[in-house]
Amino acid sequence: MTESSGVIKVLGLHMSPRLDGSSAKMLNVFADGVEKAGAKFKALSVSQLDVRGCMECGHCSEKGECAIDFDDMNQIYSAWEEAQSDGKEGVSTKIVIATPVFFYDMPSQGKAVLDRSQAFWTRRYVLGKNADGVPGSKGFLLACGATKGKDLFMPVTLAVKYLFDAIGFPKSFPTLSYRGIERPEKFSPDQLAEIQKAGYDFVRPPQEA
Ligand SMILES: Cc1cc2nc3c(=O)[nH]c(=O)nc-3n(C[C@H](O)[C@H](O)[C@H](O)COP(=O)(O)O)c2cc1C
Repeated sequence: MTESSGVIKVLGLHMSPRLDGSSAKMLNVFADGVEKAGAKFKALSVSQLDVRGCMECGHCSEKGECAIDFDDMNQIYSAWEEAQSDGKEGVSTKIVIATPVFFYDMPSQGKAVLDRSQAFWTRRYVLGKNADGVPGSKGFLLACGATKGKDLFMPVTLAVKYLFDAIGFPKSFPTLSYRGIERPEKFSPDQLAEIQKAGYDFVRPPQEA
């Protein structure tokens, strides 16, 4: 089955508290490309969820489940589980993360989701589940920041790399990152066209088109 002939699902995870801001713009335009390529797109905005911080209690190292089982992180855990079982059922499963840079890192709402994904890291690396990763999975990172520092995107890139690894997605993934963007109007038409094309290519890589 090629990617262009099977079912393809893309989950977009939005890490900013600003729902109509720069990273939302990137994600929406990327989603346009995804849908034009014929895939199903679903977005989750983490700032709309009530996700507590990891307590580092060690529960997940024994049980593979988080001890905090009553907050909205359950929606994200379900999304990770869905992506993992889709891969095993032959559905091509993909995740795109859209984040701004806050103090050289991800907004705290997004960071909480990453830390709580430790429960999936322990499933893989302590309890030996999902050791081979998710077949056919792919990740993508969209990032933006207002300044122009050389290493501006290094922390979010590393954080997302280890998130993808925790859930069994490949540790290498394409990234589009934009400096000098403090609000969505700052994106140039060329940049928006590049993001939309990336969404399309994410579903239908050029060699298959
Ligand atoms: C709390 C806070 C911290 C920020 N820290 C940085 C930073 O370290 N480097 C940077 O380039 N931009 C920083 N910015 C600017 C945002 O990255 C930028 O405005 C971005 O476009 C916001 O995207 P959003 O609308 O999706 O939230 C910060 C903004 C806020 C609100």
